[in-house]
Amino acid sequence: MLQDTRLSDLTAIETRLWEELARCARDAGHGWHRAVLATAGEDGADARVVVLREARPALHELVIYTDTRSPKARQIEHDPRATLVCWCPDMGWQLRLRCHLELADDGLEVTSRWAGIRHRPAAQDYLSPLAPGSVVRDPRAGGATSSDDARSACVQRGHFGVLTARVQSIDWLEVHAQGHRRASFDTQGRRWLVP
Ligand SMILES: Cc1cc2nc3c(=O)[nH]c(=O)nc-3n(C[C@H](O)[C@H](O)[C@H](O)COP(=O)(O)O)c2cc1C
Repeated sequence: MLQDTRLSDLTAIETRLWEELARCARDAGHGWHRAVLATAGEDGADARVVVLREARPALHELVIYTDTRSPKARQIEHDPRATLVCWCPDMGWQLRLRCHLELADDGLEVTSRWAGIRHRPAAQDYLSPLAPGSVVRDPRAGGATSSDDARSACVQRGHFGVLTARVQSIDWLEVHAQGHRRASFDTQGRRWLVP
């Protein structure tokens, strides 16, 4: 019989999962680097893949970049509650993070983050003349900017926005050959759950 070497203490598991969230923001190869962000849409649940850019374990916050004209921005304005779902096959850990979202399009945090990406190809994601989801005749229309537009938008930040996700509670699930485990972490404390 194999010895079970997994973390068995809920406090240690919570600390570790925040360490991994911080790591995944720096490591594009980490399973949690791309997460599914679910929001409440006009016609029911909506969801899409986003990149986790930063984690602040002490504040229980995560940071995501987005185009401030995207449909999700309107959904969040209407209802800031959201769930982020992360799955890491290497760890066998799924997270369901219930969050409160806040979208900033101005301020020091936005300008400093824009300064970090504005010379990279990723900046193009926030410089398209048309809003994400706009109907176009040609798939090449709407996405690209002229070099003049791009230059001026580089100065003006285009439609770059910073989404801060304040994590209210975490549902952690470990899928493991020696037995699946599940726990929840929130302001009321930490508890084991039936997987
Ligand atoms: C791998 C991958 C990473 C993505 N990262 C982001 C991201 O960090 N931020 C974002 O707003 N959209 C990102 N997208 C695009 C979204 O999934 C989505 O298509 C877009 O934001 C429009 O969503 P909305 O119509 O719900 O607003 C990503 C898509 C993929 C496939």
